[in-house]
Amino acid sequence: RQDEDQLIIDAGQKQFGAQSCGSCGMVYSADNPEDTFQHSQFHQRFLDAIKYVGWKKERVVAHFWDGKILLVMPDDPKYAIKKAEEVRQVADSELGFQQVALSRPAQAKTYLFINSDKMVVGCLVAEPIRKAFRVLLQPDQEKDMRRDDFMERHRAWCCSTVPEHAVCGISRIWVFSLARRHAIATRMMDTLRSTFIYGSHLTKEEIAFSDPTPDGKLFATKYTDT
Ligand code: ACO
Ligand code: ZN
Repeated sequence: RQDEDQLIIDAGQKQFGAQSCGSCGMVYSADNPEDTFQHSQFHQRFLDAIKYVGWKKERVVAHFWDGKILLVMPDDPKYAIKKAEEVRQVADSELGFQQVALSRPAQAKTYLFINSDKMVVGCLVAEPIRKAFRVLLQPDQEKDMRRDDFMERHRAWCCSTVPEHAVCGISRIWVFSLARRHAIATRMMDTLRSTFIYGSHLTKEEIAFSDPTPDGKLFATKYTDT
């Protein structure tokens, strides 16, 4: 049964020629010259952007068996700022952001996850904030909400109008497509909480996600629940 399914998938991919590049993760159709060209344009540029050559001075804030997390601050050497910006642009173009300025660039902190192959496979940009508006959960996710209350249900799709205390805003979080679901985002968040403010550990409630994507919502819901 499983073999049958696999054959159907393979046949489908052959038909459309869809394949995912094993190094850059781009999905494209090898039969389509335009697609193949786009991939060739993207491939090397992407790999160069996420390549980490090693810095004279690096601020390692966490070590793992499969990599490490570096923190880049606004006053760091040019090479560090440049790499952080390069990776942020990769993330932005994937998120469909045009040119979103940081609200307080001088206070932004960028966390980069470097894997054992010396690639920047994760990026988290955080800024200090004071207030946040909670994205209200969908009714079936909210535990103590009365399901028959129309107003409640309706409201549940929107943002709260009551500002809540928050300390740190996640302006972007991104993980390389081929490295997802290995807790890289989780580990960047945990590291952020213990290093964003020197000498203090932020609770999950003190952190807000700005304008999350569907992926971002799934991750944030899971992360803040556990
Ligand atoms: N679908 C369902 N559940 C998910 C997903 C998903 N796509 N992503 C994460 N989760 C949940 C899972 O429960 C997961 O645990 P599991 O793998 O054991 O089931 C848990 O969250 C932890 O996930 P991580 O492995 O730590 O997350 P990951 O390293 O894969 O990164 C991220 C998540 C950053 C959202 C990644 O999917 C990504 O870069 N997506 C594209 C960019 C994007 O949309 N970023 C968020 C923008 S919002 C913002 O920047 C404020
Ligand atoms: Zn490629």
